[in-house]
Amino acid sequence: MDLDALLADNPFCRKVGIKYPIAQAGMFQVAYGRLAGAVSAAGGLGVIGSAFMSGDELRREIRIAREMTDKPIGVDILFARVKAADGQAAAYTEQVAEHIEVTLAEDVQVLVSGLGNPAEVIPAAQAKGMTVMALVGTSRQAARVAEAGVDLVIASGHEGGGHVGRVGTMALVPKVVDTVDVPVLAAGGLVDGRGLLAALSLGAAGVWMGTRFIATEEARGHINYKNRIAAIDEDGTIVSLANSGKPNRMIRNGFTAAWEGREDEILPYPRQMIEVGAPASHQGRIEGDVENGILAAGQGSGLIHDVPPAGEIVHRIMAEMATALRPLGAAFG
Ligand SMILES: Cc1cc2nc3c(=O)[nH]c(=O)nc-3n(C[C@H](O)[C@H](O)[C@H](O)COP(=O)(O)O)c2cc1C
Repeated sequence: MDLDALLADNPFCRKVGIKYPIAQAGMFQVAYGRLAGAVSAAGGLGVIGSAFMSGDELRREIRIAREMTDKPIGVDILFARVKAADGQAAAYTEQVAEHIEVTLAEDVQVLVSGLGNPAEVIPAAQAKGMTVMALVGTSRQAARVAEAGVDLVIASGHEGGGHVGRVGTMALVPKVVDTVDVPVLAAGGLVDGRGLLAALSLGAAGVWMGTRFIATEEARGHINYKNRIAAIDEDGTIVSLANSGKPNRMIRNGFTAAWEGREDEILPYPRQMIEVGAPASHQGRIEGDVENGILAAGQGSGLIHDVPPAGEIVHRIMAEMATALRPLGAAFG
């Protein structure tokens, strides 16, 4: 069993036109052009997290990635909608409409839906030759986005950083693989070559990794945040509603302690996010106040011990997978 044989004809690599089946998650405040460009240049798929960016900012970040590589890159959009008048279909918010317009106009190769259903955008994106992927936390959501016509589904489990569903990666990924006909990427708690091999064993075509790529040189974010990810153990995170009103995995610190026992004060989504989560995330991730700010991260943090260049991570994951395969090759020929 060798690596080339395992990756020959990988449906994710083939569909998107990349060398390695490793996608870097589009992350709010963290995954900007520099990170996406570095991951794509190394042969993975780098994805810009557009959440809360202005249209001009998104255009600038896409161009930063483009200057670093001519390989495929992606943009992750949170497909939030505004409530419509009775009888009308809910429309995307003005900011989401702007993100869609910029992503299509800039000829990005991959569009990722991080939230909601991207149904209305799929025909225009696919007509331009783009690949459309969507994040899901249950097999029912997977069936809905597959029905809408996405090219790939990302099954993201409870171990992951940021907003999470209730189902763990190990149970979710094979269930989603069994549910949809399109290729699946596995996410949540996966940070190394063993995780990639496990994902392939579960029937996934590759991985979508967030936390691992935060602890890299090119990720946007304070070095204190990156170092805290590298320092904590696998039980150093908790799921809290205090960021946005929806379950969100973050590092246990003064912020999470201050909200314990005050669940009745948490505002409904998205008000908690606007009034508490966004400023506290900025305080933690960008200003580096690791005690009082929000530091989104997954349980895979326990396996992260350094803050190297992002491209090195891509190559390291492939080397680790080859090592993990060796005993299997010996056992099964
Ligand atoms: C700091 C942070 C910000 C995130 N922001 C987004 C986002 O804007 N859009 C999105 O689709 N997912 C977002 N996610 C979730 C990731 O897409 C992914 O599901 C998760 O990171 C996978 O688990 P892992 O962190 O264990 O790799 C975020 C995750 C983190 C840690």
